Amino acid sequence: MTIADHPLVQHKLTLMREVGTPTAVFRQLLREISQLLAYEVTRDLAMTTRPIQTPVSPMEAPVLDGRKLALVSILRAGNGLLDGMLELIPSARVGFVGLYRDEATLLPVQYYFKVPADISDRLVIVVDPMLATGNSSAAAIDMLKQAGATQIRFLCLVAAPEGVAKMAEIHPDVPVITASLDSHLNEQGYIVPGLGDAGDRMFGTK
Ligand code: URA
Repeated sequence: MTIADHPLVQHKLTLMREVGTPTAVFRQLLREISQLLAYEVTRDLAMTTRPIQTPVSPMEAPVLDGRKLALVSILRAGNGLLDGMLELIPSARVGFVGLYRDEATLLPVQYYFKVPADISDRLVIVVDPMLATGNSSAAAIDMLKQAGATQIRFLCLVAAPEGVAKMAEIHPDVPVITASLDSHLNEQGYIVPGLGDAGDRMFGTK
């Protein structure tokens, strides 16, 4: 697990955690922080060079080596991270995984799954702001692997130790990048201290 401990990330996360932060401000902070996290999660992408001409001279200039990316949002809260990341990586392809929790079995059930057809050729960055129990994240990654994905990273804002342990157990090949590792989950499944329900806070549904 990698913690993105950049001062700007940590400052913005503190503002997002505060209970009185209004929806519009929360959303704006999420957009900003997602771009800083995108920087962190892509920092080791392979590079190549190509010849260009500056106004002064020719040069061999660094560019991404054409490695293809897919961003996959776990609905619905993942969309908050997705939007900011797409501003920074506009050519990335996008997928969505929708899951709900069956109240009888408490297991995640898929209600939507749409990813790029060539997902097996892409570096897949799965985004979900809160890694809580890890059940839905692990299930989403199972589905992505079944669809052919082989190179996957998981990006979140706040992680609980329980979720990090679950991911390490079920998907040890998937690196987790987070802005914070918090204390624990409470009886309602909320991350403590956390920031509450990320979806409700970004969409103003509570
Ligand atoms: N999902 C959330 O939105 N918040 C939590 O604290 C845990 C899961």
